[in-house]
Amino acid sequence: MGNFKVFAEHAKRYDEWYDNERNYDRYIAELTAIREMMPASSRKLEVGVGSGRFAAPLGIEHGIDPVDEMLVIAKSRGVKTVKGVAENLPYDNSYFDYVLMTTTLCFLDDVTAALTEVKRVLSFGGTFTVAFVDKNSVIGKRYQQRVDSKFYKNATFYAVEEVIALLNSSGFEMTTIMQTLLCKSNKCHFDLRVGYGEGAFVVINSQLA
Ligand SMILES: C[S@@+](CC[C@H](N)C(=O)[O-])C[C@H]1O[C@@H](n2cnc3c(N)ncnc32)[C@H](O)[C@@H]1O
Repeated sequence: MGNFKVFAEHAKRYDEWYDNERNYDRYIAELTAIREMMPASSRKLEVGVGSGRFAAPLGIEHGIDPVDEMLVIAKSRGVKTVKGVAENLPYDNSYFDYVLMTTTLCFLDDVTAALTEVKRVLSFGGTFTVAFVDKNSVIGKRYQQRVDSKFYKNATFYAVEEVIALLNSSGFEMTTIMQTLLCKSNKCHFDLRVGYGEGAFVVINSQLA
């Protein structure tokens, strides 16, 4: 494992991306998409919590990430942090009724192991939300072309159909799918729409099958 060294070296820079006013609308659109789809839950976890830019405003109490530099920032935002990886979650079986993974799937070494772990820590009837940049979207294609990008050069992007197939083969059933960041060349709209194929940022809610 180790596709996270870049986040240790550039945690502050990663976190500051959200403060740049050029990125504000995008951040709010992504946050809103997840929030709109979030069920009322009592025990919530973000896997790959980073600096807590999603967990904190969404009221997700627990966050796990392998990078100390990220966890320090997430903790300062009020998240209860644990150092660890998605592929080996240090939580009891069925402990959470909500698990979120935002823009982390593409950095995992072993997606199947990570989804198996999410399945183990999620209670029956709980919700697993995976939010990600669609490989086939305008932004997804742009990221894949940026071979010099510090953060994304080693990422493995997925198409929506691939994520759904991974969820199904790991024992999840999709319940809802929404999209935002509807971009054509350089112009983006931030509406939230049902389905996929138009938006770069896709949010899938699923439950144990
Ligand atoms: C693009 S950041 C997303 C952070 C946060 N979810 C957000 O959206 O701001 C990806 C995060 O995944 C973490 N990560 C990388 N590999 C991981 C793994 N195997 N298990 C858990 N987290 C991992 C990185 O350390 C980083 O914080």
